[in-house]
Amino acid sequence: MSDKKNSAEKGLGTTVVRSGRKTEEYFGFVNPPVYHGSTVLYPDVATLKSRKVRYTYGRRGNPTAEALEDALTELDGGAGTVLTSSGLAAIALAFMSVVRANGHVLVADNVYHPTRHFCDTVLKPLGIETTYFDPLLASDGLKTLIRDNTQAIFFESPGSQTFEMLDVPAVTAIANDADIPAIMDNTWATPLFFRPLEHGADIAVYAGTKYTGGHSDIMLGTVTANAKLWKDLHNTWGSMGLASSPDDIYLGQRGLRTMHVRLDRHMASALEIARWLETRPEVSRVLHPGLESHPGHAIWKRDFTGSSGLFSLVMQPGPDEAVAAFLDHLAYFGLGYSWGGYESLAIPFDCSSYRTATKFEAEGPAIRLHIGLEDVADLKADLEAGLERWRNAGGGV
Ligand SMILES: Cc1ncc(COP(=O)(O)O)c(C=O)c1O
Repeated sequence: MSDKKNSAEKGLGTTVVRSGRKTEEYFGFVNPPVYHGSTVLYPDVATLKSRKVRYTYGRRGNPTAEALEDALTELDGGAGTVLTSSGLAAIALAFMSVVRANGHVLVADNVYHPTRHFCDTVLKPLGIETTYFDPLLASDGLKTLIRDNTQAIFFESPGSQTFEMLDVPAVTAIANDADIPAIMDNTWATPLFFRPLEHGADIAVYAGTKYTGGHSDIMLGTVTANAKLWKDLHNTWGSMGLASSPDDIYLGQRGLRTMHVRLDRHMASALEIARWLETRPEVSRVLHPGLESHPGHAIWKRDFTGSSGLFSLVMQPGPDEAVAAFLDHLAYFGLGYSWGGYESLAIPFDCSSYRTATKFEAEGPAIRLHIGLEDVADLKADLEAGLERWRNAGGGV
C-alpha cells in the first residue's frame, strides 16, 4: 500500500486502524458497541427543549455510526461524512444535496448504470436535465457542455466497467472555476489509492458495500464532503431520513480496519492475473489502468497510488455459448453482481444499449473480474480451465 500520509501526517494504514475509535467511551473495549435504537431519553424538560445532548434520535446518529463517519472523514480529508443504506443511496443523496429544480447535471458516460437510471428517472421529472459526456473528452470540450444552470459534474475514474481513466484534476479544475460541485464515485480506488477531495472534488461517494465492508455481507453507502458542501450534504441527509442499519454500520467500521491489508492483496493478485491474461490468445484486451498497455495508464500513474481488484477483459470474438462455457463452471469465481468482498467474481457485460455519449467498441464479449483473496495459482488454474472451455465451445483465439 501507499505510504502516502493523510493530513494528520499518520500513514493511511494507521489512520484506517486508529481513526474514529474512542475506546475510552467503550469501557476500554477495542470496538464500538452496536447501538440499536430510535428513542434517546433526555434527563429533563429543560434539556429536551435545549436539545443540548450529544445524540438526539436514532436516525440522526449514534456512537457506532460516529466511529465509521469520523474515520472516513479523516481518511478523505473532508469536513464530514454521512452514511446511507446503500452505495446507490449515497449517489442519490450526493446529487440531491446540490441540485435544484430545473437544473442541469453533467455525468460521465461510463458511470455505474444505476447512477444513470437515477438521473433519468428521478432527476428528469424534476426538470433536471442530464448531459452524459465522454470521460475522455478534453477540457475544452467539457467546458462547452456547461450551462448557466449546471449544478453538478459527476464521474468515476476509472469507470467501474470499462475502466477509462478520466483526468480528475482537469475536470475538477473546470468545475471549481465555474463554481459547480464536483462529485466523484471513488468506490474502485478507495481513499487508500486516490483521494478525490485532494484532487479538487467537493464530494466523494463510496459504495461501502464493496471494499469498506469487504466481506459481501452488508449494504452501505458513505458520502464525504469538503467544508464548502458539508452543510448542504448533512442537511439533505437529515431531511431525507436516510438512516442505515446499525449492524451494517458496525460491520462497515469493522471491515475498514483491515481494508489496507486486503487491498494490498487484491492489488497484487489482480495485477498478476491481468498481466497473465494479457498473454493469453483468447483475450483480445485487458482493461486495467495499472497495466502499461492501458490507454489511461499515465493518468493512473500520475494520480493514483494503487489499484484494486476489479478489471475487465475483452475476449476475441466468440458466441454466447463460449462465454457461458467459460463462466458457468468456474470453481472459485462466483457469478454475481457487486464486488469488493474477499471472494473472486466474474460477470459478462454489454454496455452498448445504454451509453449515449460514447460507443464502447468491443471486438468480442466483455467480462468483468473481481480478484479476491484466494491463492493466485488457484485463480489462474480456474481461469485457464475456463479459457479451454471457451475454445472448445467455439470462442476465438
Ligand atoms: C461503482 C459503484 N458505485 C456504486 C455502487 C452501488 O452500491 P450499492 O450496491 O451498495 O448500492 C456500485 C455497485 O455495484 C458500484 O459498482
